[in-house]
Amino acid sequence: MSTTRDERGRLLLGGVVLEELARSAEVGTPAYVYDLDAMDADARALTEAFEGAPHLVAYAVKANSAAPIVRSFAKLGLGADVVSGGELLLALGAGIPADRVVMSGVAKSDEELDLALGAGDRGILAVQLESVEEIARVAARARALGRVARVSLRVNPGLDPDEIATHANIATGHDEAKFGVPLARFGEALAAVAARPELDLFGLSSHVGSQFVSTDAYERGAEVLFGLARQALARGARLRTLDTGGGFGIDYGAGCPVRPADFVRRTRARARAHGLEHLTHVVEPGRSLVGAHGVLIASVLQRKTDAPRDDEGFEGGGRDIAGARRWLMIDAGMNDLMRPALYQANHRVAPLGAPGGPTRAVRVVGPVCESSDDFGFHALPTRATGELEGALAAVALLDAGAYGFSMASRYNGRPLAAEVFVRGGRVVALRERAPLAAWAAEALALREE
Ligand code: LLP
Repeated sequence: MSTTRDERGRLLLGGVVLEELARSAEVGTPAYVYDLDAMDADARALTEAFEGAPHLVAYAVKANSAAPIVRSFAKLGLGADVVSGGELLLALGAGIPADRVVMSGVAKSDEELDLALGAGDRGILAVQLESVEEIARVAARARALGRVARVSLRVNPGLDPDEIATHANIATGHDEAKFGVPLARFGEALAAVAARPELDLFGLSSHVGSQFVSTDAYERGAEVLFGLARQALARGARLRTLDTGGGFGIDYGAGCPVRPADFVRRTRARARAHGLEHLTHVVEPGRSLVGAHGVLIASVLQRKTDAPRDDEGFEGGGRDIAGARRWLMIDAGMNDLMRPALYQANHRVAPLGAPGGPTRAVRVVGPVCESSDDFGFHALPTRATGELEGALAAVALLDAGAYGFSMASRYNGRPLAAEVFVRGGRVVALRERAPLAAWAAEALALREE
């Protein structure tokens, strides 16, 4: 959460008054607002954790693929972890050299492989092979392009799913997941890559999951990876990189005692213990660089109470003391921010105006016609719930900078939210929300011959 409040109690992000953006004709709501300075500061802090040792911070573009953000990271020397041809073209176009790009993905198309292998002077830094079966395909594309492809084997460390302390939908480093070469086939994969002159086994990688608020599972995954690296080196592999993936968590309100730098320091110590500190250590953070530095601002469209009572105070759970349920319906929905619907995620909701005065427990929901379009129960000042005459009833969903806009859709005929980029206390880039009519016009343009 990188919001603050000014002397009048108004919510700010990067020094910009969010209420003014919500009110303005160019921005309005729903809109994502991002603090580019804060993102840069987090990227620098993570880079410093390597203390000059050979490393690459490959930003996981999927977390937020807005060009101003990726360009800003490119200027700081970050690389990119991409998972599609689209993300690859975006990263290259934003100024990230091909030499700093790794590509993951369990099922890459030939077109995507050709883009990756054909980029720059000798293709991207590493196409991460996620199965034994993929090896021959990548070799064939490299041969067709007349290039030697730098590849890494993405291994699945086969951790106990119970040890991967995160939501099941974002745990990847266990045997039931589709990701990575299974441990049982690692030796076979090494031999298959070695047998292909078109492939240069540049490194090993793994990614065990996302939103870790402890380093335990990450360290266990790294430990497995480093053990495999020693095996590979002993068998003559010329590894140059070890990639321990992303997954560093942020504090969504339930706490996160570890910083991204802690993950780096602890895995570096383990690499040293294995005698592997000379290899370039790659990490693939997404959420931890951008998540806390974006908010989704929304206006209150409607209120609803299920009992004709108006008692003061509340017991919590979205009911007042008389047991009445209260909904607060805002103009941002699950199409704009899917995380609550998909992972039962809780994003704190903050009033854009001064938080003082009486509060009311309400269930904040969006306009989409799905019961899962639900942002949960929140205690909000009556000023933000539209119960006070003349107040701008608007709120911010906090920590929405990662996997917010990048996962948004236009479901229910809703245009994508606006995006506002703040640097140095002012708006430096803006993507307006498409007019309501655009969605229908686009759909109607499709006609039978
Ligand atoms: N590397 C690989 C191979 C990945 O699959 C991912 C994320 C990352 C890096 C970046 O992970 P991060 O540092 O952001 O945790 N939509 C979900 C998260 C999905 C993560 C998918 N993979 C959410 O909103 O929580």
